[in-house]
Amino acid sequence: MIYKFWSIEGLALLAVVFALCFGAGMAAHADPYAVIDIQMLKNQGRLKPLVEVVIADDPAYGKKKRYMGYPLEALLRTVPDIEKIRKAGGELVFHCADGYTPVMSLDDALKKRGVIAVRDLNAPKGKDWMPVMQGGKTVSPAPFYLVWEGVSHKDKRYHWPYELQSISVMPYMEYYTAAVPRVPKTSVVYRGMTLFKTRCLMCHTVNLVGGTVGPELNVPHNVTEYWKEGMLRQFIRNAPGFRARSGMPAFGDLSEMELNAILAYLRTMKGAKICGETRPCPQR
Ligand code: HEC
Repeated sequence: MIYKFWSIEGLALLAVVFALCFGAGMAAHADPYAVIDIQMLKNQGRLKPLVEVVIADDPAYGKKKRYMGYPLEALLRTVPDIEKIRKAGGELVFHCADGYTPVMSLDDALKKRGVIAVRDLNAPKGKDWMPVMQGGKTVSPAPFYLVWEGVSHKDKRYHWPYELQSISVMPYMEYYTAAVPRVPKTSVVYRGMTLFKTRCLMCHTVNLVGGTVGPELNVPHNVTEYWKEGMLRQFIRNAPGFRARSGMPAFGDLSEMELNAILAYLRTMKGAKICGETRPCPQR
């Protein structure tokens, strides 16, 4: 269901308010333009039409798959002024049952055919889903699994969340405010933040912003304060090779420069810790 909506103009004002809060050393968290509760819309019969989609190389199963589901675009079009939000750089935050919280650009999402799968057509008779392997365990993708027709899983702008429950439509960067360092957009640290956002933040929080599959990495202790740099590099590159039964995937594809940027970002966040829940705020 869509329970909240503000005009773009109203949001500019809100952004100022949040910026002020952050400046005062508080955790800032913006409200979304809209929250789409997929199960509720389905129960109300508002998720139509049901379509079929073929995925040539499904990233969760590593093979060709067929699904029944609802077009993502139709769902997004239920949000008022979605084109305005798109032009303003809106983003989609996907909320999954296990705490996985990936984010992607609304514009990218509307450029391709996304389908919210409700049933795996390759599943055995009488079953809706086949289990997927995740960190040595098997899980069911139910209730919903977002798939993309004609998109390679190598394209990191697109996410394929399963166990999907709801989608928030957020103003650009608002969701991350507390995790964004105050550095020039051209700096290595900023590039590291952008990389962290696309590759890591869906599982980790920084200043309590992000997903909760993995641990918080900044408060009260920043990970670079208690890990040796060399070990940290080894771990991020290949967590399953570093720690048996690690729940974190390997990141062998990150270049040295990208890894350096991510570490520079994490180191910088030492100096921008939020206070309150995790450590006392300085007296003012
Ligand atoms: C699919 C979820 C997932 C993604 C994506 C992910 N991680 Fe993790 N990460 C975990 C989990 C789970 C742990 C907990 C330790 C374990 O299971 O080995 C972890 C642990 C860590 C730790 C150790 C923290 C500590 O204090 O022990 C670091 C550092 C880390 N991750 C960094 C990263 C970075 C950097 C990225 C992006 C390049 C990333 N992670 C992407 C799930 C993830």
